[in-house]
Amino acid sequence: MIHETVVTTVTPDGTPHIAPMGVRHEGDTFVLMPFLPSATYDNVVLTGCAVVNFTTDVRVFAGCVTGRRAWPTVPVHKVPCVRLDDTLAHAELRLVSINGDPQRPALVMQCIALCTDAPFTGFNRAQAAVIEGAVLVSRLAMLPHEKIESEIAYLSIAIGKTAGPREQQAWQWLMEAVNVFYARSAAAARVSTEEAL
Ligand SMILES: Cc1cc2nc3c(=O)[nH]c(=O)nc-3n(C[C@H](O)[C@H](O)[C@H](O)COP(=O)(O)O)c2cc1C
Repeated sequence: MIHETVVTTVTPDGTPHIAPMGVRHEGDTFVLMPFLPSATYDNVVLTGCAVVNFTTDVRVFAGCVTGRRAWPTVPVHKVPCVRLDDTLAHAELRLVSINGDPQRPALVMQCIALCTDAPFTGFNRAQAAVIEGAVLVSRLAMLPHEKIESEIAYLSIAIGKTAGPREQQAWQWLMEAVNVFYARSAAAARVSTEEAL
């Protein structure tokens, strides 16, 4: 099973880095699989630690994939790292080994502390839709336009019916990114047509 989480790491000089990441975990073992090049990978290798944040604040997922990475963090206690200030729970991890796939290595990490920071208040369809939308936005250059459009149309139903202010904000950021991407693609296509004439 893969959980969609937010991974926080720090550079050797202590600067926080925040990235949404799918994480597998069983017992005390967590596995992170960053595609290289990756700041998360570099930070884990250089500092030997990371924190996995279990959060329902989907603005962080949508924000990170649209260039908004400055979310408040606070230090954790068992490893020299930070967690999101606003998270339901977090796991403090220490690096055990790296299974070195050249494109997507697996960082095998041991959980040193698993902490609850706030109560879980139930499932929300708009939050799930924002996560799916954030994955689509991170793959705009790889997926056909029609697929993006049809998936957005379906996900918009859950947003319209069940979103609160955070989910609406997150969805707006995602839709802006989609519009900018296709406007730029259309402009680039016009330029190359004009050059060919
Ligand atoms: C829900 C979700 C899950 C993601 N899971 C992964 C993942 O498992 N591995 C990965 O490399 N990127 C994943 N991404 C994309 C990263 O968040 C993004 O590429 C990020 O910048 C990672 O690179 P970095 O370590 O250099 O920050 C995911 C994005 C979203 C929205």
